[in-house]
Amino acid sequence: MARLIDGKAIAATLRAEVAARAAHLSYRPGLVVVLVGEDAASSVYVRNKDRAATAVGFDSRTIKLAAATSEPELLAVIEGLNNDQEVDGILVQLPLPPHIATEAIIRAIDPAKDVDGFHPENVAALALGKPRLVPCTPRGVMLLLGAAGIDPRGARATVLGRSNIVGRPLAALLLAADATVTIAHSRTRDLAAECRRADILIAAVGRPGLVQGSWIAPGATIIDVGINRAPDGTLVGDVDFASAITVAGAITPVPGGVGPMTIACLLDNTLLAAAARRG
Ligand code: GUN
Repeated sequence: MARLIDGKAIAATLRAEVAARAAHLSYRPGLVVVLVGEDAASSVYVRNKDRAATAVGFDSRTIKLAAATSEPELLAVIEGLNNDQEVDGILVQLPLPPHIATEAIIRAIDPAKDVDGFHPENVAALALGKPRLVPCTPRGVMLLLGAAGIDPRGARATVLGRSNIVGRPLAALLLAADATVTIAHSRTRDLAAECRRADILIAAVGRPGLVQGSWIAPGATIIDVGINRAPDGTLVGDVDFASAITVAGAITPVPGGVGPMTIACLLDNTLLAAAARRG
């Protein structure tokens, strides 16, 4: 039976550390989350981010804009936040409505305030092995590995999924940590064989229960980034937990694994951005 990696507890520890460091500052780190439209899942995520930021003592604010907001209007809001000296972190919740070019919006955010780590300058810094602000979920995965005592150095790490938010930046972080990295995806010829080679397997594809226990090497570490709604309404990951736990050495549950780490890392990124800007 695999050991469970308790993301909820590890995230709580990180949030407490952020709160303790914030308490020693002469200012309150400022985080602004921008939500365009009324997507139900996005609204829940944004509320959770705002609450978590307030709980660690940040000056947190959510700007809610109508779904019909134009791209120039949104750009003007970002420009205002870039110029506001009290704002340390800017997060524009994705996805944006289809009439807005996501790339143009991300590029408009001051890279020093880009707590999502999505701006091309921050993406390039990570790709060049000199990470600055790093996307929250990949960073959370690396912290989970560290807290669970799993060292990526020299290990075969396979990332399932190549999204800009998780798969690509996570592969770069694993490479920076000296893992031997494989990125597998929907066009990979034999997904099961790629998975079986992995000492560390990270699933981030958004396909419920895709990874079977029979795809896993005995003793491997399994990190499940998936958050999928099952037909019965429960949340399930990209890994078939029941069969995986009998084979793996360590595994994250869904919920209570990677999810809580994402918000904790957002808070930590905001603190880093504030410290870098304000000295
Ligand atoms: N939507 C889903 N995940 C994320 C994230 O990490 N950041 C932002 N801004 N939007 C998201």
